[in-house]
This record gives sequence, C-alpha cells and structure tokens, in this order.
Amino acid sequence: MLQIWGPSRLQGHVKISGAKNSALAIMAATLLCPDDCRLRNVPSLADINRMGEVLSALGVKLKRNEDILDIDARDLKTSEAPYELVRKLRASFFVIGPLLARLGVARVPLPGGCAIGARPVDLHVRGLQALGADVYIDKGIVHAYVNGGKQRLKGGKIYLDYPSVGATETVMMAATLADGETIIENAAQEPEVVDLANICRAMGAKIEGAGTKTININGVSQLHAVNYPIIPDRIEAGTFLVAGAITRSEITIGPVIPEHLRAVIFKLEAIGAKIIREDSDRLRIVPAYQHAATNIETQPYPGFPTDMQPQFMALLALSDGNSTITETVFENRLRHVAELNRMGADIRVKGNHAIIHGVPRLSGAPVVGTDLRSSAALVLAGLAADGETTFQGLQHLDRGYEQLEVKLKKLGAKLERIKP
Ligand code: UD1
Repeated sequence: MLQIWGPSRLQGHVKISGAKNSALAIMAATLLCPDDCRLRNVPSLADINRMGEVLSALGVKLKRNEDILDIDARDLKTSEAPYELVRKLRASFFVIGPLLARLGVARVPLPGGCAIGARPVDLHVRGLQALGADVYIDKGIVHAYVNGGKQRLKGGKIYLDYPSVGATETVMMAATLADGETIIENAAQEPEVVDLANICRAMGAKIEGAGTKTININGVSQLHAVNYPIIPDRIEAGTFLVAGAITRSEITIGPVIPEHLRAVIFKLEAIGAKIIREDSDRLRIVPAYQHAATNIETQPYPGFPTDMQPQFMALLALSDGNSTITETVFENRLRHVAELNRMGADIRVKGNHAIIHGVPRLSGAPVVGTDLRSSAALVLAGLAADGETTFQGLQHLDRGYEQLEVKLKKLGAKLERIKP
C-alpha cells in the first residue's frame, strides 16, 4: 500500500532509468547470441527479474551488478519456456522468435490476456510462419518448428495488419539468423524497436530501416558478443513530466532522448505548460497555473502513446474545460476512470472515449490500481489531491517504475510505502 498526503509541491531533478520495454525485448534477443552479452542501464524492476527467470529456465546464465546485466546464452538446455513464468509476464512470449531462430524449435505458452485487453499473438505467429516456420497451438502452448526438419528459418516478406511492437520485435529477432532477406512492412516505429535493432546490429545482425515503416533484415549465420546501454525510459520520463504539471511544480528530468517524447511534449505545451530543453538530454517543465483542456487520441508511435494515456487523464481531470481521450490501441484501458471519479474527477466513458469535465480540485480517497500505467495515474492524482490517498496496487507499480516512491520523495512529495 502507498499512503500519499497531498497536495504536494515538487522541486529538483529526477534521474530517469533505462527503458523497461527495451530491456525486456533486448533480454530476449540475447538468446540469439552464443557469446557474452553485457547490458548497461538496465532498470531494476519486477518485470526484468521475471524475464531473467524465464531466461534462466532456458539454461541462460545471468549476473546482475547494479544496472549492469551480464547474460551468457551459450548453452540453451531447452526450447520450452515454462508456463508458470510466462503467465506472469506477457513480454516473455518474445523469447519465441530468438529460440526458433537459434534452435529451430520453440515451445512457448500463450501468455493470456491482461487487465488492459485480450492481447492476442496472431501477428507474431503469422510473422514466424512467413519465415518458414510451422506453428500450431496445442493445450495453450505455441509450438513452432522450422519447416522440413531444417534448422534455419528462411527470409520472407511480411505485412503486419497492425504495427504491433511485439510482433515487429519477434519477426525482427527471428529474421536476424534466417537464410536470406526479410522485409517487414507496416512495422512498429517505436524507439524500443530501434533500440532492439541497434543491439542486434551491434551483435553483427544486418538490419536497415528500424524506426520507419519498412524494416529490411539480411540474415547472418551467427551473432557475436556485445556491450550495450539501454535507452532512457520515455514513459517514466513522461510520467514525471506529468507529475510536475499536475502538482504545478517546476522540475527537471534526465537523461532523456527528447525526440522520443515529442507527442507528450506537444500535448503538455498545448495545455499551457512550457518544456525547456536544458541540455541535449535534460528537460525542465514549467507548468501553467491552470492547464487548459485538450483532446487526445492514442496511436502507435510517433502518435500519442497509450502508455501515457492514464497519466494524462489524471492531469486533464484538473484542467480548465472539457477534454476527450480516445483509446485506440487497447480495448480495455479506461479502468482508472472509476477510481479517478472516486477522487472527485468528472469523467464519463462512452465506448473507447473518455469525456473529461475538468474540476478545480481532487480529494484524497482509497483507490486501487488495476495495471501499471493506471496505477501511475492514481499516484499522480494522489499527489495533486487534497488530503490522504491510500493506493493499493504496488505490485503493478513495481513492475515498471524503478523506485517510484523514492524518486518522488526526493522531489519533496509526502508518501510512504506501508507494508501489510
Ligand atoms: C508493447 C509494450 C506496451 C505498450 C504497447 C503499445 C512491451 C513489453 N510492451 O506491448 O507497454 O502499451 O507496446 O505501445 O514492449 N495485437 C494483436 N495481435 C498481435 C499483437 C498485438 O491483435 O499478435 C494488438 C494488441 O492486442 C493491441 C495492439 O495490437 O491491441 C497493440 O499491441 P502491441 O503493439 O503488440 O503491444 P505489445 O507489444 O504487447
């Protein structure tokens, strides 16, 4: 439980950790490499530990020292990921591509749905089939084999019906070791996809076009050792920018890659905050006294990120006027609305739209987070609200925010983690 006493006034600087979603995909990618991989700037998070457990179960050796993670995937002892671990972390499904590419066979349980939507893996599966894999699902396990008893996948042309981040990553990883050229069209352009391509290139893969809609991969026969720093987490950075805005506090954040935050910065400026680039990797937010309303629609990158939608909902709940948020990426990602309303917000949901009527203040209340980003939104609302907020759902926050309450406390927020 997290007890928050608001309203808070924040000041100072926040250090932004390495990107969770990059690190998860990159950990899966190390399975491609029969040599030493050193990852730097790896955040310390429950999700990262879980991915580590999945890799260990496959026979990988891992050693962690602060933000450095050494991974040795020379000896893979099995091509089957255990259900008990995969069900706890959707992203662990991403091991299917590298396992198949390296061993010619992979068996990975379907990860199942989650609080924000059904999240199928059909695009991953079709992508692997286009690379010459036989894929079938039996008793909840996805079985993938390279056709005709051969070991190596074959390059192919893939058009993704939707620019799925995970499916782009799965196909890209599988194609690095395939025989011949792979072209992924309508690929996801997220910075985490680019980070994954960059580490694969640093290991010797031949990949062009990551960050655009078309990615070309020329398969190589083997990858080699790497020492690679993960990019800063743009969603953690965005969350802290909103923390500054919602508490009307001037704070700085860094390191960040400002380019990755374009859509978020644009919306903050649209409602009256100023974002000042203090350095190439450091931003200052100067909030408005009263933020204006705006309309937001979530989109694949470079559009407005779905992972920032709940946090902006909390901010717009306190802005002047009526805003609309339309969630287009996930079908069930407005569950924080009811909790924000318990704190005095005035938000109505119609299908995938939230209609937000700004109110002058929120009041502290007991609230429950249902997933990672909705939990962040409730903590932000708690910082701005009058009085005491009791937040339940720390297991969600710990999945994806490194030491959130420690970082907020350093900025002057009054909050305490209460052990049950
Ligand atoms: C990644 C991020 C997540 C972020 C999301 C969208 C990781 C570990 N997680 O998730 O934080 O919210 O991108 O930016 O990187 N879909 C299908 N079939 C598929 C795959 C996806 O229908 O085979 C659908 C999903 O259900 C969802 C949409 O496509 O509605 C987007 O999903 P996707 O981009 O794949 O997200 P993830 O990679 O799961």
